[in-house]
Amino acid sequence: MKSAQVDLVQQSWKKIMPNRAAFAARFYTTLFERDPTLRKLFKNDMRAQQTHFLTAMGIAIAGLKELHDIAPYLQQLGDRHGLYGVKKADFVSFTSAFFDTLSHELGATLTDEERLAWADAFRTIVTAMQVPA
Ligand code: HEM
Repeated sequence: MKSAQVDLVQQSWKKIMPNRAAFAARFYTTLFERDPTLRKLFKNDMRAQQTHFLTAMGIAIAGLKELHDIAPYLQQLGDRHGLYGVKKADFVSFTSAFFDTLSHELGATLTDEERLAWADAFRTIVTAMQVPA
């Protein structure tokens, strides 16, 4: 990713942070509305899951400029997702639920440039997770 794009993603993530709990809750609600079959994969407490997700996204977003540093972390995260039964195809619903939540949260302040930067960031993170097809 270009450095300027990473900056955009990091800045908009920062804007979400004061409202992160509501953001994460809305994200999973949107995900399960979009694809109810995914709900059964989540066996543990969703409150805790929201926190885990925010933490992992935070680490990934902070590391986008030094991808080699976080690649092992993301690959291990991806390996665990394989064990949870997550398939590569599940990332489609996941990514679009994330975008819906982002649009809701940032509303009109989310520019096309930011959207493109986020799409690139997601592609980068998902590729580094290497979840099996
Ligand atoms: C950007 C992509 C993603 C990130 C950063 C992420 C992050 C996380 C984290 C941090 C955990 C906590 C457990 C652990 O560390 O292994 C987790 C668990 C989990 N994630 Fe993800 N995830 C991503 C994509 C997905 C996708 C596409 C799915 C598909 C539905 C998914 C489903 C799950 C499930 C089922 C669990 C286990 C929940 C449980 O134990 O109840 N994740 N995820």
